[in-house]
This record gives sequence, C-alpha cells and structure tokens, in this order.
Amino acid sequence: MACIAKYFVIIFLFNIFTSSVYLLDNDKRINDVKIIEDHEDAVVAHEKLKYHESAQKDIHDEGQEYDIDEIEQDNNDGLGDIDEIGDINGDEEEDEYQFPPLTRLDPEYVGQEVYLELVDGVRFRRITRAMKPPVFEIPGFLSDEECDYIIEAAKDNGLEMSALFGEDVEKQFDADLPLEKVTRVSQQTWLDGTHIGGEFWDRLQTRISKLTELPIDMIQRGEPMQVVSYKEGGHYHAHIDTVEYNDKPCCIQTGCGEKELTPEWKECCRLCRYATVLYYLQDVEDGGETAFPLADAKDKVLEEKFADDNNDDWHNLSYNCHNSSLVVKPKKGTAIMWYNHFVDTETGYLGEADLRSHHGGCDIRKGTKWIANNWISSVPFQDRFKRSLFYTGP
Ligand code: OGA
Ligand code: FE2
Repeated sequence: MACIAKYFVIIFLFNIFTSSVYLLDNDKRINDVKIIEDHEDAVVAHEKLKYHESAQKDIHDEGQEYDIDEIEQDNNDGLGDIDEIGDINGDEEEDEYQFPPLTRLDPEYVGQEVYLELVDGVRFRRITRAMKPPVFEIPGFLSDEECDYIIEAAKDNGLEMSALFGEDVEKQFDADLPLEKVTRVSQQTWLDGTHIGGEFWDRLQTRISKLTELPIDMIQRGEPMQVVSYKEGGHYHAHIDTVEYNDKPCCIQTGCGEKELTPEWKECCRLCRYATVLYYLQDVEDGGETAFPLADAKDKVLEEKFADDNNDDWHNLSYNCHNSSLVVKPKKGTAIMWYNHFVDTETGYLGEADLRSHHGGCDIRKGTKWIANNWISSVPFQDRFKRSLFYTGP
C-alpha cells in the first residue's frame, strides 16, 4: 500500500514540479585520498585511470547503516525534542530516519588536486576551481557511454521548455524579449531510476555520495536528475540553484502539510539544495561555458552587486560570461560540484544560501549542449525528522 502511495506521489511530482529536484545509499567514506603536489604526477596518474572499463562494471558497495543513536547523541543538545519532532511528520517506513548533519569538503587552495576512488579500483581527480564557495571539477566523472545513455533516456522521456522556480519564463517569451534577455532558454526533463534503471541510478548516487562525502541515504532523498539541452543561442543567466530567503515553512522535499499534493505546495516551500553536481554530457563546439560571476568575490564586490536592484546586468551571461571570476568549459563526462548553502555553525545543518554560488550557462555559440544536474537537498536542524517526498531508496 505504502509502495503504491509512493508511486503516485512520484508521478504527481513529475507532473507538477517543473523546476529542479532528487538523491542515494552509501555511507562508505573515501580513505584513499592523496594530495597531488606535482602536476606531472597528476597527469601521469590521470592517464592511468581505467575508468572506462570499470565504469561498466557493477558496483555494489555494502553501505554502512547510518548510526542514528550516534547522531542523536551528537546533536540532541537541547535544541529540540527529537521524538516529538519525529512524530509530527513521521512515515511508517521511515520513522527512524533523520537527515544527518552536513559534511563539507574543505579545499586548501585553487588548483589543488586530490585523488578519489569514486569507483572501486579507479581513481578520479578532483580539482579545486574556487574556494568561496568551494567549486570542484572532476574530469571523467561519467564515462562516454554513461553520458550517451543519459541523453538517450532524456530524449525517450521527452523534453519540455525549462522553467524557473517562482518565476514565469513563458511570460518572458510572450513579452517578445530578445533571446539574450530571457533568463533561461533550454529544454529539460527529469529522470530517476524508473527511467534510467535502478542499478544505474544507484551507481550514480553511490558515486555522488563518495564525491561529496555525504551519506547515500541523504542523496536518495533529493530530487530526480534534471537533464537539460540547449540549442544555439540557449543559455541560463546567473542564478542560485536554491532559494535565498528562509521565509517559507518547509523545504520542497519535505512537503507542506495538507498542501502537499496540491499546486500550492511549491509556493508554500522553498528549495533547499545544499550542493549541486552538474555533468556535461557532450562537448560543445563553441560557447556554453558554466560561469560563476561571484566565485571568490571580495566582500565589498559582493555588497556592490546586490546594493542596486537596477544594476543587475551582471546576471546576464549573454553579455558578461567572460567577465566572470570562474568560467568552466563543457567537456563530455566532466562533473562540477559546488555548495549553494553554508552549514549553520550552531546546528551543523542547512544554513543560509551562499550568494557567491551564483552561476549560469553562457550562450551556446555553435552546436548543442547537454548537461544534467543532481541536486543534494538537506534541511535545517528543526526539520531533520521530516521524511522526503522524493525518497527513492529501498
Ligand atoms: C542549471 C545551470 C549551468 C550550465 O541548470 O541550473 O546552472 O552550464 N546550468 O548549463
Ligand atoms: Fe544552476
């Protein structure tokens, strides 16, 4: 019965939820991390990656169970009554679950290269591209075959015009704005295990868990993967993947009480996307870079950018792509990962949105661009016992 209910919830979400959401199952931490000081070493080692062979092989990591007692001990320090909160929004199958406190990768300097074993026996390179927020690039995160497979699955599922959370992009088109003034010009679809196969979905989620060092069960409570396709002239002006103001009573994944299955649900809740993992599924002939105009910006620069609402031209990447402090060129199989939120230093849970995480996709000058987003969502401390509507785990 619970299974059927879950199925209907998922179908419903796919119908009404057009912006961005999903996630995993593995708590195994990477212990084989080596800092590469010498660039030549890094290159040689990178060449040794046997990624493409092993990417085909099944990965069945025996994920450790999250230790709930331990978390309770660590975090129940007078900030709330765990049992009481648990009862408010408990679900039969997930009574025991609580969102865990957040871990965060802490790079030392831009250009730092770290090796990670994201697939058993295979090393991947994680390169730091920015410090504030930490932005990482992981070449070959997906194999060519995996990229092609995701694109095919997206086409099979059917693409529709991309939407914006809380904004009407269709109005911008209706207003006949020149293309470069429209915030988001792309097509998209949502995929999860039901589209790409449970095994592939698990494998991807395991890899994300290892990359982010966040437990897989948290990743399983995030949104499905959003696949996006841009044609020439397509772009997505600078935005944050989450919601800046913490003035809504819920994160979308935990629902909004009675409004849960109504169209008001989305208006009632906000996005709580702690981190983004974005993959390039294809090379782009020209353009289509991902730009971070405020990465590592000084406090004063940040203040200036937000001081004057009328002077928000910096969002427009059709004009300003290459003025950005970080610009990443799309490369098939490469992933970039960054944080959209700070961690609340008091609770260890989801904190404020980080405005330096503004980013977007620059104009495609030639060719097409395909990307996919996996968003890792979390909750503020007081919501840690709420279950997730998006849960796809066992
Ligand atoms: C997004 C996004 C960047 C890109 O889809 O949210 O920021 O390079 N995309 O396409
Ligand atoms: Fe984005």
